[in-house]
Amino acid sequence: MSSRIELSNVGQTFQVRGDDDRRLREFVALDALDLEIRSGELLSLVGPSGCGKSTVLDLVAGLTQPTSGTITVDGRPVTGPGLDRSVVFQQYTLLPWRTARANVELALEAKGGLGRAERAQRADTYLELVGLADFANRYPHELSGGMKQRVAIARSLSYQPEVLLMDEPFGALDAQTRERLQEELVSIWQRTGTTILFITHDIDEAVFLGQRVAVMSGRPGRIREIVDIRLDRRSAGDEDIRATTAFAGYRHRVWGLLREPRPAREAVAHVA
Ligand SMILES: Nc1ncnc2c1ncn2[C@@H]1O[C@H](COP(=O)(O)OP(=O)(O)O)[C@@H](O)[C@H]1O
Ligand SMILES: [Mg+2]
Repeated sequence: MSSRIELSNVGQTFQVRGDDDRRLREFVALDALDLEIRSGELLSLVGPSGCGKSTVLDLVAGLTQPTSGTITVDGRPVTGPGLDRSVVFQQYTLLPWRTARANVELALEAKGGLGRAERAQRADTYLELVGLADFANRYPHELSGGMKQRVAIARSLSYQPEVLLMDEPFGALDAQTRERLQEELVSIWQRTGTTILFITHDIDEAVFLGQRVAVMSGRPGRIREIVDIRLDRRSAGDEDIRATTAFAGYRHRVWGLLREPRPAREAVAHVA
């Protein structure tokens, strides 16, 4: 149960007020952006702050509409939010008056079709998947930041969306918790085969998670290059894949793409 996402020739322009005067002007956040996320793929989208990553995610989520171009999920145009796509944001979005289990159940209530007992059972299954089987009855204020984010992930997965959209979901966590959740996410993805778009500005995180890393440049936002990541996680065994030379090579490659100034269009035309 997974889907292919396609953005083609997508443009997004916002009306912003100038710094000097207060007049409205157009700000081109995305320009002619093309991106395919294959069915069942975990694709990382990395780029500097402000380059348009969240703008891309909001469009795929159907929270906003593009100024131009098309976005499809399995060939169907995205016209608004839907239960086929689930979003995890950086900030925890749990209801404080509901337990972890009841927060997961919330998504199942929205989807409908399951009885009370089935919902509780399904919620527990997904809490277990993210390592929180013993914390189902805790309230958000009784959970650490990493645990809250895991509840949010369990909630997103519980209604079995075809697509999981994650916008810097581990950005607010300490380094150790972050690495643990990255590993958990990979194993969940391997088990469920969900199509995942994972947004981050962290190069290591992008390389560790992605089957491919799409590198974005800003002003206006475009996909600069897509790097295939061929790291064999199974053969790594107990070795930390982040410590391998192959990993360092990919990190260096992505870092270089982010660092290099974008070639001027004239220069490209001249060389060509
Ligand atoms: N609703 C909006 N109105 C005006 N400008 C926006 C809006 N949303 C985003 N932007 C601008 O578009 C650019 C890309 O923003 P965003 O997608 O949030 O970047 P990122 O997630 O990569 O940090 C930024 O310059 C931001 O200020
Ligand atoms: Mg963002």
